[in-house]
Amino acid sequence: MSDMNALLDPARFADLTTRAARDPETFWSDEARRLEWIAPPSHARNGRGWFSDGLLNASANCLDRHLATRGDKVALIFQGEDEDTVLRLTYRDLHAQVCRMANVLRDHGVGKGDRVAIHLPSVPEGVIAMLACARIGAMHVVLFGGFSAEALADRLADSGARLVITADMGRRGAKQIPLKATMDRAIALRGESVETVLVVAVTGEDAPMTPGRDHALTPLLEVASAACTLEPMSADDNLFLLYTSGSTGKPKGMVHATGGYLLWAAYTHALAFDHREDDVFWCTADIGWITGHSYLTYGPLANGGTILIFEGMPSHPHPGRWWDVAQKHRVTTLYTSPTAIRALMREGDDVPARHDLSALRVLGTVGEPISAEAWTWFSTVIGKGRCPVVDTWWQTETGGIMIAPIPGSGTAKPGAAMRPLPGVQPILLDERAQPITGAGEGVLCITNAWPGQARTIWRDDALFCTTYLDPYPGYYFTGDGARRDEDGDLWITGRVDDVINVSGHRIGSAEIEDALAAEHVFAESAAIGIPHDLKGQGIVVYVVPRETAAADDAERAEALAKQAIAAVGKRVGRYAAPEQVFVVPDLPKTRSGKIVRRLLRKIACNETEGLGDLSTLADPELVPALIAKILG
Ligand code: WT7
Repeated sequence: MSDMNALLDPARFADLTTRAARDPETFWSDEARRLEWIAPPSHARNGRGWFSDGLLNASANCLDRHLATRGDKVALIFQGEDEDTVLRLTYRDLHAQVCRMANVLRDHGVGKGDRVAIHLPSVPEGVIAMLACARIGAMHVVLFGGFSAEALADRLADSGARLVITADMGRRGAKQIPLKATMDRAIALRGESVETVLVVAVTGEDAPMTPGRDHALTPLLEVASAACTLEPMSADDNLFLLYTSGSTGKPKGMVHATGGYLLWAAYTHALAFDHREDDVFWCTADIGWITGHSYLTYGPLANGGTILIFEGMPSHPHPGRWWDVAQKHRVTTLYTSPTAIRALMREGDDVPARHDLSALRVLGTVGEPISAEAWTWFSTVIGKGRCPVVDTWWQTETGGIMIAPIPGSGTAKPGAAMRPLPGVQPILLDERAQPITGAGEGVLCITNAWPGQARTIWRDDALFCTTYLDPYPGYYFTGDGARRDEDGDLWITGRVDDVINVSGHRIGSAEIEDALAAEHVFAESAAIGIPHDLKGQGIVVYVVPRETAAADDAERAEALAKQAIAAVGKRVGRYAAPEQVFVVPDLPKTRSGKIVRRLLRKIACNETEGLGDLSTLADPELVPALIAKILG
């Protein structure tokens, strides 16, 4: 355990927690004063809504309100892939750039409620575009640069985006990622709603342009005005939609509303990272994920902080690159993923030891369970035992951090998410949906509503209800399991549904299985997650060829395995590529036809002892046959 001394102390933390639980209405009404309101709300919660009669603008909260006191303060530091590419934008600069971008969007007919797709690498234009949308009341829909054209097409069609902002190219180390070309293919597939494409020149490479539809962004920004009126938004008006994966093949567009979400981002950023005025906050996430929304953009900027955006990767062109960045820009707060920590650990302790990391004050992780080993390395080798390590548990759906050992709240245990933030009331339920009161393990639900909670799934409120609200009536169901120890501290154990977590990226088994089903050579398939040293989980796929005999022909099986990997790359994206594909004659099923994934996981992990009672399977003989085939 490590002691943490900071802003809060355990008594104040306990007091906040008690007050939030006893009278949430007053607590959240008070907290809402963190934001600047055009018209302040008269109440806090109202069903699924929050601060409903309040009016505000998220971009004004992140920019305009700081101009008087922080106009010359650096709001955004950009460190390019190239060492010499550094950009520092003050709040005044960032405000002007956002206004220009917002005017360009308005000139192209974008207004309140319209959807704008943002498909960019880690460059300042991503944050600028998000805030520009917020300024004019348009919903941003950020699409991860690693998505395939098919995956982009599904999301364009579902969101009905009118305008797309993409880049000529993205850089990934020495490689170039053809973002514009991929987006063109996506639009050709299912981008009927897209009227305009704006192209950011990242590498300056020639990108194919469709006349009338596509425009280079820079010349438009140059002539746009740096003044732009704000759209006053109701707190319950939508701010953005962001796709995430669940148990169904279809990606879910999580909708976040303006007031509740922004308050949650600001509140949690201030508490979880003990935010201070001189901080340089480096969140290593891509804006394509919720972490890049709440902690690269909205939370720190609403709090008047300085954010760092790094274009590159941890170990390119050399293993110490990240530590170069942290040293050079005097980073105080580093928020990253266990996957990145595991990769950096492998480079050896002497790599960070050659850097001056003395500015670091708080370290955070998110996205997957962190092992005690990785936690301890982060704490001792990077934090030198001085910096609290905040293991933050939350989800796209929760808008921001929910459970974390926030600095000052008490002690932290390596690998434990510890305690809920004030205002969050988690509960563990057993298999009969009964609350587990003392120590024990169960599914993690949240008993109360909180301002950052997603409002709905875009165009599918019924799915929102069946996924989150109906499984355990009266509770929000997270999809995760958790354990409470004797001290009352929480440990997240991982997903209890068919969601696989690869390097902190959520991938639904069904998404992969749908991609395989589209290749007509496979009769059926099952994708499962198994432990992976670097990625946390890796994907293993079992496919059953339509021509069953192919499973017994080594050459044909190998060709089918290659085809399966290509299919996932094509329809989901290369980040979801399976580690291994097993071509098998059949899948183990219950008599009612349900695939028994538990067995598939055990076989893939080479755990053939204690497989349990196989007699309830439709074909008990299949399991030994699969073991013989796969494990030889
Ligand atoms: C899922 C949410 C939250 C932003 C990044 C991922 C897993 C998240 C932790 C953690 C263990 C974690 C959960 C959760 N997860 N944080 N600290 N410890 N697991 O957002 O893509 O919506 O994924 O990530 O399984 O449900 P997301």
